[in-house]
Amino acid sequence: MMKTLRFTTLPGDGIGPEVMEIALTVLQKLGNLHDFSIETSNHDVGGIGIDNHGKALPDSTLNACKEVDAILFGSVGGPKWENLPPKEQPERAALLPIRKAFELFANLRPGNLYPELSDLSPLRADTVANGIDTLCVRELTGGIYFGQPKETKTLDNGEKLAIDTMVYRTSEIERITELAIKAASLRDGRICSVDKANVLETSVLWREVVVNCVQKHNPDIELTHMYVDNAAMQLVRDPNQFDVLLTENMFGDILSDELAVICGSLGMLASASLGTQKNSQGLPFGLYEPAGGTAPDIAGQGVANPCAQILSAALMLRYSFGLEEAATAIENAVKETIRSGLRTGDIAQGGKSVGSEEMGKSILNRLQ
Ligand code: IPM
Ligand code: MG
Repeated sequence: MMKTLRFTTLPGDGIGPEVMEIALTVLQKLGNLHDFSIETSNHDVGGIGIDNHGKALPDSTLNACKEVDAILFGSVGGPKWENLPPKEQPERAALLPIRKAFELFANLRPGNLYPELSDLSPLRADTVANGIDTLCVRELTGGIYFGQPKETKTLDNGEKLAIDTMVYRTSEIERITELAIKAASLRDGRICSVDKANVLETSVLWREVVVNCVQKHNPDIELTHMYVDNAAMQLVRDPNQFDVLLTENMFGDILSDELAVICGSLGMLASASLGTQKNSQGLPFGLYEPAGGTAPDIAGQGVANPCAQILSAALMLRYSFGLEEAATAIENAVKETIRSGLRTGDIAQGGKSVGSEEMGKSILNRLQ
C-alpha cells in the first residue's frame, strides 16, 4: 500500500517560501519513485504570522501541527520585525514555544562539508581537505533557556536585576544521551560530551548521567568529555576529531553555529529537532529546518541555495517517516549535483552560479 506522509509546511519569511517550494517538488518526485505520496498544508509562522495573525506562532498554525506527523519548517525573521522587543522577535517567539509545545528535546545538527566545497571553509586548507563530517546533538528544551526563575526586577535601590536559571534533571540528560548513543552507533561510535563541570552544578550532573547512560546502553561507545571553552577551540583546530558532540542547550546553540560556519555555507546545512511524542508512524514527531536563516538580502530573487531545505526534508523522511532509502536518495542527489560543479551564489566563490530552480531541477533529475 502506498504510504501517505502527513506533515505541515511552515515556510516562514525571507527565502523560506522559495526554497520550501523546491523542497516540496523534490519530495513529490521522490514519492513517485519510492511509493509514497505527500499530504501537506501551508501555515504562517514568524514575521508573516505576526503580520497576518498578530503572533509569531499563531494558534491555527500550532493546531494544524498537532494533527500531523512532522513539521517541515523554513526560516523566520527579517529586518521588518527587528525592532520588536526581544520576546516578540519572530525567531524566539516562534521557535521556543514550538519546541516546548512538542517537547522537541533533541536537536541534531549535522556538520557536513563536502570535499568539493572545502575551499568555502574559513579553516586552513590542510585541516579540511577531506571535508568535515560531525554531528552536534544539542539538548533543546531544558537548561538556561527555560529554567525558572527567569525574570527582570527592580531592586529597592532602583537598580535592575535579571535572572536566568540553568536547570537539568536526570531524565532530561538521559533521553538526549540515549539519542546521541543511537546516532553514534550508526556513525563512528564516538561521543564527546561537552560541559563546564569545573564550574557548573548542572554540568557535574550532566557528566555523571552521561557516563552512566553510556555504560548502561552501549559500553562500546568511546566516550570522552570536554569543557566547553576547550571544545570551542578544538572545533576550529581540528573539527574531524569529533564524531558526535553531545551537549546541553546553550552550549549547543553556540557550538552548532561554530560548526556551521566552519562547514562553509549555511545554505548546505539541515537540522532536525525530535520530540518525545511518537507520531502515527510510531516514530518521533519532529521539526525539520535549514540552519541558514531567512537571508533577507537575497529573498525574492530566486537565487537562494535550496539544498539546506531539501536536506531537511531528507531528515524528515529518515526520522519521522522511517524512509531511510528515500532520505539517502536525496542526500546522494545533492552530493552528485555539487560534484557536477553546479553552484548557487552562496557557494560559487565568484564563479558561475545558477538560480534556486535550476539547482533544484538538477537534484530532482539525480533522484533514483
Ligand atoms: C537556534 C537559534 C534559536 C536558539 C533562537 C532563535 C531562539 O539560535 O535555533 O539555534 O537559540 O535556539
Ligand atoms: Mg542558534
